[in-house]
Parts: sequence; C-alpha cells; structure tokens
Amino acid sequence: MELIDGKKVSEQIKTEIAEQVKQIVAKGGKKPHLAAVLVGTDGGSVTYVNHKVKACEQVGFTSTLLNFDDSISEEKLLNTVKELNENADIDGFIVQLPLPKHISEQKVLEAISPDKDVDGFHPVNFGKMSIGLSAFVSATPKGIVELLKRYKIETKGKHCVVLGRSNIVGRPVSILLSQKGLDCTVTVAHSRTENLNEICKQADILIAAIGSPGFVKKDMVKTGAVVIDVGTTRVDAPETKAGWRLKGDVNFDEVAPLCSYITPVPGGVGPMTIVSLLQNTLLASQKSIK
Ligand code: GUN
Repeated sequence: MELIDGKKVSEQIKTEIAEQVKQIVAKGGKKPHLAAVLVGTDGGSVTYVNHKVKACEQVGFTSTLLNFDDSISEEKLLNTVKELNENADIDGFIVQLPLPKHISEQKVLEAISPDKDVDGFHPVNFGKMSIGLSAFVSATPKGIVELLKRYKIETKGKHCVVLGRSNIVGRPVSILLSQKGLDCTVTVAHSRTENLNEICKQADILIAAIGSPGFVKKDMVKTGAVVIDVGTTRVDAPETKAGWRLKGDVNFDEVAPLCSYITPVPGGVGPMTIVSLLQNTLLASQKSIK
C-alpha cells in the first residue's frame, strides 16, 4: 500500500506556480488576484477560506477576503458579486459555500461572471467542462485528477466508482474520469443505490465523496484498489487542542491494508483542492480559459 501524499504534491505545484508568478512579474505583468467571499462564521468555511488566502500569499498572488455577517441579504450579496465581476483588478473570485438558508446559492453562483468563476461552479463552466471544452474545472475534481496523474495511476479502461453525486465533487469528477484521455468506465453510486457494497467492491478506483465519516468499510473494497477519500467531516476529539479532528469517508485503518494506493485525511485531497484553485486563478489572470 502506498499513501498518496497530497500535501507533498500540493507543495510541488505551489513551487511551480510561484515560479510562474515570478516570471510574469519580471516581465512587468500583474500578480494574479483572487478574492474570496465568506458569509457567516461556520468553522469549516472559515478554516477553508483562511487556507485559500494563505496559499495565495505563499505563491505570490494578491488576495482579498470579503467577510459578511450571515444576516446579509441576498440582494447585497448579489451586488457584491456584481462589483467583483466589474473590478478589473480581480482576476477570479469564489463565494464560499454553504450560504445561509435565506440566500439562493444557485442565484449567487449564476451571478458570477464565468470568466472569473475560478470555482467552476457556473453552469457555463460546468457545461463546457462536461463536453470537453476549455473551462474552469472545479477545484476538488481537478485536484483528484492531478493526483492520479502525478502518481501515474492507470485510469484507461479501469472501473471507477464515485460514491456521491454532488455538483461540487461527485458529478464533475465522474464526468472528467470518463472523458477521452482518462478513459475510465464510471459508475456514480449514491444514497439510493442498491447493492452498494457489491458495486463499490467492483471498483479499481473508488472515490468516496458523501460526507459520512468512516462510511467505506473493508467489505466494500477490492484488494489492490485505489481509494480516494474526499470526506472532511469534523468529529469530536477531546484529546486534541481544537477539540475536533477531520475524519474522511473511509475507515482508513481497516481499508488501507487492502489498497494499492490510498489518500489520507487530512493531507490527501484537501491540499489539492486549494492548489487547483490557485491554478485556476493563474489561468484566469492569463485569460487562458476562453
Ligand atoms: N464549500 C466546500 N467546498 C467548496 C469549494 O470548493 N468552493 C466553495 N466556494 N465552497 C466550497
């Protein structure tokens, strides 16, 4: 069993991005600029956004963090999105999800200019990605594909089972993996799937993205499978300073011995999500996505 070290790969990619930023600046160009909109004080969202801002600093990007109380109206948030769309200094921006219940996430995501949608959540980007056109690809699916490539994991003709059908991870990663070049045979499994254990057990590559800690057990995994764990649920851990720790969707201790490769949580997919966002921001600043 080999651990897929997302932290290490993400550091390599950050070094590559930082080098590109240096070259842009040396030629008189402008540093890429990412803005992040954070609504409310949800612990997970605050942590993720802070990681994104810190990663910008590490690679030499400019970043702007816009913080709003969770009482912000939908109208005010939509106006903020409009201002960011029109602000020529900002290359790309994200609105961290989830948003409070009184705000339509879909309305907000659709208000983001597709040219600045570095999360790849706008229907225009999702649609273009789906048919293989140049588009911003959402960060977690892009990071998963990058990990498979950097570890030279064979995908051609392999059976990939994606557990979860979210718009952010399950659905887009299933589309990417079935495309030409990656060539997986993909099954999307979800909460209504019958014979789930048997289906997961047929996977050469199993991607767990359901947000249910420890859901994938050893009787769901074929010997030699590649297991990618996207879960990052905070669970109580009184022994830690924070009082919580991150737990993946995979019961790591019992599944890892069966695998050829497995991603840990933390340190697997999470850091790759952040560098994918940096890569998208660099593409946005270079106007590379048409
Ligand atoms: N919430 C969970 N993951 C993400 C992400 O990748 N982008 C945004 N904007 N919100 C999220």
